[in-house]
Amino acid sequence: PTAQRVAHLLGRMSLAEKVGQMMQLDSHGDLADHILGRHVGSILHTSPARVVEAHELTARTRLRIPLLVGEDCIHGHSFFPGATIFPTQLGMAASWSPELVERVARATAVEVAPTGVHWTFSPVLCIARDLRWGRVDETFGEDPFLIGELAAAMVRGYQGADLADPTAVLATAKHFAGYSETQGGRDATEADLSRRKLRAWFLPPFERVAREGCRTFMLGYQSTDGVPITVNDWLLTDVLRGEWGWPGMLVTDWDNVGRMVWEQRVQPDHAHAAAAAVRAGNNMIMTTPQFFQGAQEAVARGLLVESDLDDAVSRILALKFELGLFEDPRRPDVARQRAVIGSAPHAALNLEVARRSLVLLRNDGVLPLAGGFTADAAGRARGDGGPPRTVAVVGPLADDAQTQLGDWAGSSGQADWMRDGQPRHMITTVLDGLRDHVPAGWAVTHARGADILTMAPDPEGALFPDGQPRPQVVLPCPPDAALIAEAVAAAERADYVVAVVGDRIELVGEGCSTATLNLVGGQIALLDALAATGTPMVVVLLASKPLVLPDSALDAAALLWAANPGMRGGRAVAELLLGLVEPAGRLPISFARHVGQQPTYYNQIRGQHGSRYADLTQRPAFAFGDGLSYTTVEYADLRVATGELAPTDTVRAEVTVRNTGARPVLETVQAYVSDDVTSVSWAERELKAFRQVALEPGRSATVRIDVPVADCAIVDGRGVRVVEPGDFTLLVGPSSREETLLRAPFTMRAAG
Ligand code: IFM
Repeated sequence: PTAQRVAHLLGRMSLAEKVGQMMQLDSHGDLADHILGRHVGSILHTSPARVVEAHELTARTRLRIPLLVGEDCIHGHSFFPGATIFPTQLGMAASWSPELVERVARATAVEVAPTGVHWTFSPVLCIARDLRWGRVDETFGEDPFLIGELAAAMVRGYQGADLADPTAVLATAKHFAGYSETQGGRDATEADLSRRKLRAWFLPPFERVAREGCRTFMLGYQSTDGVPITVNDWLLTDVLRGEWGWPGMLVTDWDNVGRMVWEQRVQPDHAHAAAAAVRAGNNMIMTTPQFFQGAQEAVARGLLVESDLDDAVSRILALKFELGLFEDPRRPDVARQRAVIGSAPHAALNLEVARRSLVLLRNDGVLPLAGGFTADAAGRARGDGGPPRTVAVVGPLADDAQTQLGDWAGSSGQADWMRDGQPRHMITTVLDGLRDHVPAGWAVTHARGADILTMAPDPEGALFPDGQPRPQVVLPCPPDAALIAEAVAAAERADYVVAVVGDRIELVGEGCSTATLNLVGGQIALLDALAATGTPMVVVLLASKPLVLPDSALDAAALLWAANPGMRGGRAVAELLLGLVEPAGRLPISFARHVGQQPTYYNQIRGQHGSRYADLTQRPAFAFGDGLSYTTVEYADLRVATGELAPTDTVRAEVTVRNTGARPVLETVQAYVSDDVTSVSWAERELKAFRQVALEPGRSATVRIDVPVADCAIVDGRGVRVVEPGDFTLLVGPSSREETLLRAPFTMRAAG
């Protein structure tokens, strides 16, 4: 029936109505012009009040086709005051838990739906390979398999089992494909990618979520080999529609079609740009107002025929029917908003995810503080009769609510359409968390110690393309001796110093990459001065992405990466430091020692001549999969059930994992596969499975690992994904680092 309803409606639409249906415009523009003048099919970046207005305008249109409302709800409902803001995607990835990620997405959908939004532009499936890129925080990290598993979970969570359910929202797999392969880490540069490389690393996560039923895909901004992604026939038609048979709706990124005229300059005018975009298979055109005239002109000039639009319009209408919008456009529902947005169950889930997202990278035994505590009924550390201690909480991010939320949290000043900051009282900073959770009698002192950024006139005096002077720009501030002295005095009077450092929102985001990975402003000088006091120092890194750390942080008594841990992050950090919860996060991405080491991802092509730079090791500071617990875990007795396998078989293995320490652990067992000899150069090993197992002290478990042989494929010289017969090695352990992994061989026999 959906197909019939679509065909019937399509038959009644004029050319202008079809063109409009393919358009998505920013709701902060003139809504009456968008809806009555251009018949737009969708709006984005909105508020419940604007959605109500938009539906009223839609009711006045000839065909009353309901609007699709889209929003960037990336780790929670980004723009709704009081909505639950979870850790960023990269933070969530450190949990290595598809189950948790699915629950986060479900909770987000439940909060998003009553605000009148039907469609979230999430998850991001880009592979973060250059840490300088400004959008690393939006990714699930550097590994295609982990990305695919977590993204599939997120899609399930957003969309639920049935799109007609009023809490289902459309998911978007973005940015299709290769957008993150930047030059110099700069956003949206030409991506130097062969089709083989795309097939090998960048496409598998997208194929995974296409199979999962992700209903929409969004393009990136980049060109590949001279072809803007918006008109890349091979990716959009041959691969996505042809090979994968994906039935969903494809949306461009922001003004991609206009950019082909004014930025990339590969189309002479908007009529040609519109025709090229339609022919390449784009369905929804995001924020290119000129598409309305351009596409109609293209038909008038014979660059398109009207029926060329039918496929795109049909896909959009089909989704609207499936969502049930013709029956109920899902107007904002204030009573429901009050019931679910920022609800107690969502806050509890947020705390659970924040705890699981923290990655302990170093611990000389200082943690948990004073040997650790148990929680009382209020969740506070229960005093154990030991001497009361003083904790100096220092650093520019110790009490920084905005950094804790991260990008896409309605709190950024970098884009004027981001608005509605989250209420401060809903956010627990690290300082709040420690004050609330230390045992009775302990003292918590605080000193800022350093600033990070300052606003100043652009020293290069750069102008915007239209000749207007640029406003002030963000620049690192110099160390401030007085602030440092105050922090040093606090550290000297304390038993422990917790230094909270990292990056700030102004250094993160679209069009906001960094040339270095350093701690900026006065932070390095602060850490050096604190280290010199001799007070045991715990460094808490609130950083959107892996940064290059000074020795004073790498050699500190303990080092914890918290990414942007969301509203409850400060409490989670405090609980971990006090031993109320166990550290369980594992790195979804490697940390470099120096920006010049880029790239540092673990699954690089093997056989590079030389294993170090002349002046520096090539090894990262911390590798993919790394992360410590408060106990020790031993792996033993890796065994593969079948020695010789057919291409349709599954590699079945078992390993014994034992908790040999004194505290419980949630261990992430990682399984990598190495193809011993390949017809083309290939990664030394790749993650193919992971399992999590909870073990009490002294207990062991047999963990089963299954890897379909088909997943051991490489992309050969013809660009075809094949499993090449021969010998393989299964590697299992707690990290991607070779020295931590047990090995067992298996063989794939030739077909027939
Ligand atoms: O969804 C985003 C995308 O990730 C980057 N450009 C703008 C889009 C809509 O806000």
